[in-house]
Amino acid sequence: MSQIPKGLKRDKSTKPLDFVGLKGSSEPTERWKSQIQEFDRVCGGGLVPGSVILVGGDPGIGKSTLLLQVAAQLSKGRPCAYVSGEEGIAQVRMRASRLGVETTPLQLSSSTDLRSIIATLESKEAPDFIVVDSIQTMYLDSVDSSPGTVTQVRCCAQELIRVAKKTGSVVVLVGHVTKEGAIAGPRILEHMVDTVLYFEGERGHQFRILRSVKNRFGPTDEIGVFEMTQLGLQEVENPSAAFIADRHDDVSGSVIFGGIEGTRPLLVELQSLVAPSSLATPRRTVIGWDSGRLSMVIAVLEARCGVSFAGKDIYLNVAGGLKISEPAADLGVAAALLSALSNIPFPKDFIVFGEIGLVGEIRPVSQMAARLKEAEKLGFKGALTPPKRAKDALVDSSSFKLHSIKTLIEIFEFIGYDVKPKEMVHGTY
Ligand SMILES: Nc1ncnc2c1ncn2[C@@H]1O[C@H](COP(=O)(O)OP(=O)(O)OP(=O)(O)O)[C@@H](O)[C@H]1O
Ligand SMILES: [Mg+2]
Repeated sequence: MSQIPKGLKRDKSTKPLDFVGLKGSSEPTERWKSQIQEFDRVCGGGLVPGSVILVGGDPGIGKSTLLLQVAAQLSKGRPCAYVSGEEGIAQVRMRASRLGVETTPLQLSSSTDLRSIIATLESKEAPDFIVVDSIQTMYLDSVDSSPGTVTQVRCCAQELIRVAKKTGSVVVLVGHVTKEGAIAGPRILEHMVDTVLYFEGERGHQFRILRSVKNRFGPTDEIGVFEMTQLGLQEVENPSAAFIADRHDDVSGSVIFGGIEGTRPLLVELQSLVAPSSLATPRRTVIGWDSGRLSMVIAVLEARCGVSFAGKDIYLNVAGGLKISEPAADLGVAAALLSALSNIPFPKDFIVFGEIGLVGEIRPVSQMAARLKEAEKLGFKGALTPPKRAKDALVDSSSFKLHSIKTLIEIFEFIGYDVKPKEMVHGTY
């Protein structure tokens, strides 16, 4: 039988807490900027002193490259250090010279001994900014398990967080990701740190996206776009233009989706291919979007609009290696699928966005004005959108036309695809 614990004995030396009001004379902390704007923005406008940032990403995606570039930039203004537990001094130097940052005053060390890192941070010459690459290689001798194990990773992170809060240094931890894409080690690691960033991208594509998934000091879902080149990661100033640059005009199955990533509008190309299938269960392949959502869009097209995808393989790809999660892409996906199925190119000067409901209705999405402005800026001539709400102040001029639709079936008229009622096939998908 469990015993009810007795209350703590009152100890005379224990004092009650000293509370303070919310308003006070604490100075607002100034953020440190790395001058790599895509990185600073994802961090919420710069680094907050005393914070700990975890950067995760697939092997070889460019984590070490990014952080070496950031640390090198920051080192021009304040003492910074880079500790690699994965690579030797010569290897990091080789990368530094390829990136053209070898003349910056960044301090470099190759070590896996966490005790010495803590001692460095507690010393008088402690760096303001330190990169620990990676947390899985670090080792604390007081913990009786090997590097990379849950206990080691948690204890090492705990120590680094404690010392960062105490000294005001910014600590960046590089974290490996598991096969499933989560940061390896205890999930609690993500709870412990202040900011979690994921560095992602498709292998074989030059674009890399830095995404904030947790930030105690800034908005999440903000993204930074980089391009991996011979000289390292270059910032992509106009991501919309970059993501649609390789688009071929007048091909069926291609649609430009007006998306929002964080606070920024981002135009991306959605590509679809619908091909006859020789398989009993036709293929549904999606890259960069949610496959469950694709099934839903297909089901709505079949059940509410009378289109049949039976016996067809369907491929959907978000060009440029970007991953999108917005339901606002639904209408873009439907447009790409219909265009591919009918072999009719979607009007090339139009962008598309809108959420599709299960009864085939098109629902309004957030930040419509920002999406439209971005499209207008890049020379598009119009947009296929959800119905306008009374509060929306949207561009609709002679040079930029809005075509709002209330139900999915209205899209057929827009692309000039005629569906005959006999094509209606229920229950075959
Ligand atoms: N000479 C080069 N030219 C162009 N790109 C290069 C060159 N050398 C390396 N790269 C790019 O840098 C990537 C490796 O970057 P980096 O080592 O920073 O990745 P990482 O995420 O730290 O990997 P790991 O998980 O192994 O530590 C390579 O996949 C490649 O795309
Ligand atoms: Mg690395």
